[in-house]
Amino acid sequence: MNPVPFRHEFPIFQRHPDLVYLDSAATTQKPETVIEAERYFYEHLNANVHRGAYRLADEATTAYEAVREKMRVLLNVRDASEIIFTSGTTAGINLVAHCFAAVQISEGDAVVVSAMEHHANLIPWQQVCLRNKAKLLVVPVSPDGVLDMAEYENLLANEKVQVKMVAISHVSNALGTINPIESIVRLAQRHGAAVLVDAAQSIASHTLDVQALDLDFLVFSGHKMFGPTGTGVLYGKEKWLDAMPPWQFGGSMIRDVTFERTLFAPPPQKFEAGTPNLAGVAGLGAAVDWIQKTGRETIARHMRSLLEYATHRLNTVPGLRIIGQAPEKSGIISFLLDGIHPHDLSTFLDQSQICIRAGHHCAQPLMDLLEIPGTVRASFSIYNSEAEIDRLVEALHTAREFFGDI
Ligand code: ALA
Repeated sequence: MNPVPFRHEFPIFQRHPDLVYLDSAATTQKPETVIEAERYFYEHLNANVHRGAYRLADEATTAYEAVREKMRVLLNVRDASEIIFTSGTTAGINLVAHCFAAVQISEGDAVVVSAMEHHANLIPWQQVCLRNKAKLLVVPVSPDGVLDMAEYENLLANEKVQVKMVAISHVSNALGTINPIESIVRLAQRHGAAVLVDAAQSIASHTLDVQALDLDFLVFSGHKMFGPTGTGVLYGKEKWLDAMPPWQFGGSMIRDVTFERTLFAPPPQKFEAGTPNLAGVAGLGAAVDWIQKTGRETIARHMRSLLEYATHRLNTVPGLRIIGQAPEKSGIISFLLDGIHPHDLSTFLDQSQICIRAGHHCAQPLMDLLEIPGTVRASFSIYNSEAEIDRLVEALHTAREFFGDI
């Protein structure tokens, strides 16, 4: 049995020692250092940033900007001004969809998404296309959960429209598929389209070098990378951030205001109106430190090994069907157990302190395409163990008996 060397760093498992938390795709648990960083901010540094002339405000601003620099290093961004703090992935995508569309998308243009996008990377683009009379093109997904790259290329080459944006998840939250970002970007660039990568499910375990990949936009949430809820990051290429209008208006995003007009501050301030989530960003900085200390390769290796083990063990449960069998998968495994509705199964498993998500996973069109009502989804992180997967498998056998002869 593999040891779980990092579990003791997550206080929630001291409070709930028997908890089998298999829902890290929804949100990861938080290490002590992240919780402590938020507390430290409130106890030692609490003042508003970019405003006060007194020393405490200056220290708070320095701490806030230091996290931006940590993010710059984590993502290998050229300049920290290309990093905008948001409240999460959804906010980041909405910002880009709204502001990019304002200057780039009009009638005759198109946005490409994939059939495996979660609602956060689908609805903003759908609404922008409806508003600007552009087309939303959807890359099909095979029953195994693999993107149809030939059809992707056909969509880009469609002569009836000009594709301006490809918005794609690095890792599918519903199926675990890892999409081939390098090829996706290369093909998009060949056809003159910008690319937004939604890294919500991969940022904690995969290295994403925005310069090497030449990404236009990258978004993710803090809470899926061991950081606080209500935090997130949007990386945008300088040329887009300069060209795009602001998203929200208010304090801290201006250079000069009169009653007649406003001159906006340069990025990133232009996109950070109002008081940011200061303590949250402090916690996010601690989450970056934790990931850097642990190593993304270590995290990814652990998740891969749990995925392999779980795939093998789940396949031994009669009547169980794994949904999403792409050759490249992250630590997410979706499945159905014949005759048991996913919600009933999840409630049953909860009685054994097993936390898994059931439903459409905010990817309703994908579930429609696969002709299923939803799935039960187990997702793994660094603090999970093979013993927990054994407990899940045991509970699934019990569920089969409980729900009758299936
Ligand atoms: N998008 C998150 C999930 O997949 C909330 O559960």
